[in-house]
Amino acid sequence: MKRAFITGIEGQDGSYLAELLLANHYEVHGSIRPGSSGGEKHLSALKADPKIFQKTLFLHQADVEDANALRTALEQAAPDEVYHLASQSHVGQSFEKVEETCRITGMGTLRLLELVRKLPQPPRFFHASSSEIFGSPEQSPQDETTPVNPITPYGSAKTFGTQMTRIYRRNFGLFAVNGILFNHESPRRGENFVTRKICRAVAAIKSGKQKELTLGDTSAQRDWGNARDYVRGIWLGLQQQTPDDYVFATGRLHRVQDIVELAFEAVGLDWQKYVRQEKQLFRPADPRQLVGNPAKAKRILGWEPQISFEQTIAEMVQAELKAI
Ligand code: GDD
Repeated sequence: MKRAFITGIEGQDGSYLAELLLANHYEVHGSIRPGSSGGEKHLSALKADPKIFQKTLFLHQADVEDANALRTALEQAAPDEVYHLASQSHVGQSFEKVEETCRITGMGTLRLLELVRKLPQPPRFFHASSSEIFGSPEQSPQDETTPVNPITPYGSAKTFGTQMTRIYRRNFGLFAVNGILFNHESPRRGENFVTRKICRAVAAIKSGKQKELTLGDTSAQRDWGNARDYVRGIWLGLQQQTPDDYVFATGRLHRVQDIVELAFEAVGLDWQKYVRQEKQLFRPADPRQLVGNPAKAKRILGWEPQISFEQTIAEMVQAELKAI
């Protein structure tokens, strides 16, 4: 039985990854922040299953800023594979919390790399990098060879973590992989990301609980995939003979406006009656057209995204209606 350690196990990707690894007969360990709900949201079904919780799924209290707690958790788990997903992941908030973002997202990755390198049997290491490292790219679509050019504090912190992962691979012989993840969504997405914000609002407006939806720049474009597809890619990245970097993306661009139209249409409402743009919600800097080329992941990992943008938004609207 392989053992995995996941930072950020309580989040969207961490919880889907835990489910995937458990289905693949792993023993799964996850770090949770002291004082957090302990995975009440997305891990509740796993925690309620007496055949799983404390049998093949274990949670350890360890903040990514606390090297001692992380070391203890890693020593107890003795993992074969480490998936580092924890970060301050909201790009907009990274302008308000610049230092905190760099500490958690940038230094947190270096801290973990250093701990992993010093373990008696260094495990394989996956770093959840981001398309935000490309910021304002000179080429489109972006792939593993595209020069980094971050324009947000979050993108800059992720660039640091990405480069450190490469340095530990090249100089310390660590089996270290960067997954350069473009946006990926699901009903488990955090509420302050734009897909979830729109889908939640649409369900609330439909049921008379909310009157309008205020958004930032609805002309912004992104390459939106589905989280369950990307988590499969994350796992595949560590199952190869040699470590490398992979772009996970769909190769298709959509506008925030497309999400608005799809989501309102799904409940039979006219978006024009409810949506308002608010200048305050525009970001000081926002990548305009991040779109990825996943050819390498397809060729080497045999990875293929299976769930479309339209299916993802429809699933998210349905989940919000059900929750209400
Ligand atoms: N959150 C949010 N809220 N975004 C808005 C809004 C709004 O009201 N209105 C417009 N947007 C625009 C943002 O300006 C951005 O251009 C786009 O919608 C997507 O925003 P988010 O959903 O917040 O995601 P993100 O692209 O900034 O970052 C996500 O994807 C990255 C991968 O590319 C995060 O998951 C990052 O952690 C991840 O690395």
